[in-house]
Amino acid sequence: MNTPTPELRTVGILGAGRVGTAIARQALKAGYAVKIATAKPVDEISLLVQIITPGALAAEAAEAASADLVVVAVPLHKYRTLDAGLLAGKTVIDVMNYWAPIDGEVDDFENDHRTSSEIIQDFLAGAKVVKTLNHIGYHELEEDGTEPGTPGRRALALAGDRDEAKALVAGFLDRLGYDPVDAGPLTAGRAFQPGTEIFNGSHTAEQLQTLFSVAAEPANA
Ligand SMILES: NC(=O)c1ccc[n+]([C@@H]2O[C@H](COP(=O)([O-])OP(=O)(O)OC[C@H]3O[C@@H](n4cnc5c(N)ncnc54)[C@H](OP(=O)(O)O)[C@@H]3O)[C@@H](O)[C@H]2O)c1
Repeated sequence: MNTPTPELRTVGILGAGRVGTAIARQALKAGYAVKIATAKPVDEISLLVQIITPGALAAEAAEAASADLVVVAVPLHKYRTLDAGLLAGKTVIDVMNYWAPIDGEVDDFENDHRTSSEIIQDFLAGAKVVKTLNHIGYHELEEDGTEPGTPGRRALALAGDRDEAKALVAGFLDRLGYDPVDAGPLTAGRAFQPGTEIFNGSHTAEQLQTLFSVAAEPANA
């Protein structure tokens, strides 16, 4: 986990909660420049950012969204408070999960057969959304990462409709300490949403590949 690839130097994070700050610290450790924003003005979060994510820059959402890669880590039920215009053209990691006991029942997700990330992709129409980092606990993220090639290295799944965005995100996950495993298009993210075996466990790349093959089998096969 040392020098980042040239095409990915800055990481913007929207959300300075449990997940946003854990990703920020891990990204800083990996050598990225990190800008972190919430819905609050920057002066209201600068002290918190200084203490909780030393080395990261507290920013307004527009500045965080201008990074090479943007991570959206806000509670899912607040997704409509995001400014889709700021994220147009950007590669965006969606770490959010729909979990009714926490989010409350949200019509947008209850009454739609699509995965939450497909709904987010619709809302962030100009962005290239990649679903990942949603199935690792914020506390584990900083503990489980290891160097590439480490036996039993933990893997993380990613799903998205744009190959170039997935390639960028795969490189990021590797730098954070995890083997990236491409599950396929955004709709394939269903296999690692809350309630699934992948969501609830920790897996190597080989184990994830096996679970994805099983998930892809027709139900009546
Ligand atoms: N907890 C986990 O281990 C875990 C793991 C993977 C994924 N997730 C998912 O990650 C998401 C975030 O979870 P969390 O536990 O980190 O939530 P959290 O601790 O409640 O933090 C949410 C953060 O989002 C900010 N925020 C709200 N609206 C915003 C906006 N429009 N722009 C920028 N920032 C905004 C909040 O700040 P202000 O309200 O002050 O602006 C706060 O800093 C959830 O969907 C969760 O399901 C959680």
